[in-house]
Amino acid sequence: MATEIFDIDGMPRGGPDASWLDRRLQTDRLEYLDRDDVDNRKRSIMRSLDRGERVFGIHRRLARILLDEVTGVRDPKILELGAGHGGLSRALLSMHPTARVTVTDIEPASVAAIAAGDLGSHPRATVREMDATAIDAPDGYYDLAVFALSLHHLPPPSAARVFAEGTRAAHKLVIIDLSRMPSLLHLVMVALALPLTIVPYWHDALISSLRAYSPSALRALARYADPAITVELRRQPPVLPGSPQIAVASAAR
Ligand SMILES: C[S@@+](CC[C@H](N)C(=O)[O-])C[C@H]1O[C@@H](n2cnc3c(N)ncnc32)[C@H](O)[C@@H]1O
Repeated sequence: MATEIFDIDGMPRGGPDASWLDRRLQTDRLEYLDRDDVDNRKRSIMRSLDRGERVFGIHRRLARILLDEVTGVRDPKILELGAGHGGLSRALLSMHPTARVTVTDIEPASVAAIAAGDLGSHPRATVREMDATAIDAPDGYYDLAVFALSLHHLPPPSAARVFAEGTRAAHKLVIIDLSRMPSLLHLVMVALALPLTIVPYWHDALISSLRAYSPSALRALARYADPAITVELRRQPPVLPGSPQIAVASAAR
């Protein structure tokens, strides 16, 4: 990994050029999803995530965006990192007749739950444990890797490793994550959402918003990982709370 002039450990979630206010709108507090002592809450949050994404058609919308990245590839090999519940992989498999999808997560319990469901016996799916910061695959093995709604869980040095590893193991790495809100709007949202945090889902949603990376942070992470990585940012306007941002990264080979 190349080194950069800035201190990656201390980089604000708003990026090296974050404002005074933006630097205060972040936290090291863990989401329930990041903890090992709250299994029931984790499972219920994961179910809510999957249900919400299904009801609002998010799995299919994101799958369409991903499949557009591999239109020229005959039988694309796709790696989903941090799959959680597997909903995005399921949409990819149903929307592309020949794509092969490796469905992975770092959490053994999530991987076991996915493997026990329909994806576990799908002829074009492989379900396995994998750490997005240490991808177990040869260089360029996958046509596309995707890490959805997960990068904000990682501190900057690990997030930079995802860029390095994802662009090493796949021709393209697509990061889909929450957009970081403009600071004033973010401040208002935090104040309004605080009372809701007694509900586990909203507890994690608020922390996610405080840990979301800005576009300049995503660029800095990729640059730190390797200056040869190019990043195309596709912010989905309008930037409403919870709206996703999409970064497509690739490394010159
Ligand atoms: C908020 S969930 C997102 C689940 C799903 N991708 C979605 O879009 O709803 C974050 C997921 O990232 C996973 N995760 C966290 N750190 C990871 C890492 N280093 N490698 C792979 N997955 C990781 C967690 O286990 C969790 O399943």
